[in-house]
Amino acid sequence: MLGFSVLICSATPQELLKGYEVQSSKASSARGEKFFTTKHGKEWSCASCHENPPNQLTKHIVTGKAIKPLSPNSNPERFVDQVKVEKWFRRNCNDVLSRECTAQEKADVLYWLMTVK
Ligand code: HEC
Repeated sequence: MLGFSVLICSATPQELLKGYEVQSSKASSARGEKFFTTKHGKEWSCASCHENPPNQLTKHIVTGKAIKPLSPNSNPERFVDQVKVEKWFRRNCNDVLSRECTAQEKADVLYWLMTVK
């Protein structure tokens, strides 16, 4: 159940952030930015596909396919569907870290993304 007691499909970035924070501790945007832009022992960082700042149309580093901006300020379709968010966190974290992201890492990244204009 992804660690949530109730699985909500429709959400806001603020609600998702709260959900991660109750499973960890208060989010840090500085930590989130560092996490997002740093490699974690593998070939890519999150910014390899989403760039920094992630507020623009970017290209998938392998397929070259367009990826819409990740920051919820630039793209209102981001972080409003919990199932989609969890699916892509799982997949992308595995690609970048060879494991799933912790609730703390998700909280930090999301909190930082919410500050990216
Ligand atoms: C190899 C390319 C690639 C890398 C590296 C990557 N992503 Fe993504 N990401 C994608 C693609 C493709 C999608 C899905 C297409 C879309 O939604 O535009 C996506 C979607 C997402 C979403 C879905 C958000 C939403 O509500 O729509 C989140 C969250 C996300 N990525 C976070 C991350 C994080 C955190 C990292 C680093 C751990 C990361 N990504 C690294 C390619 C990548």
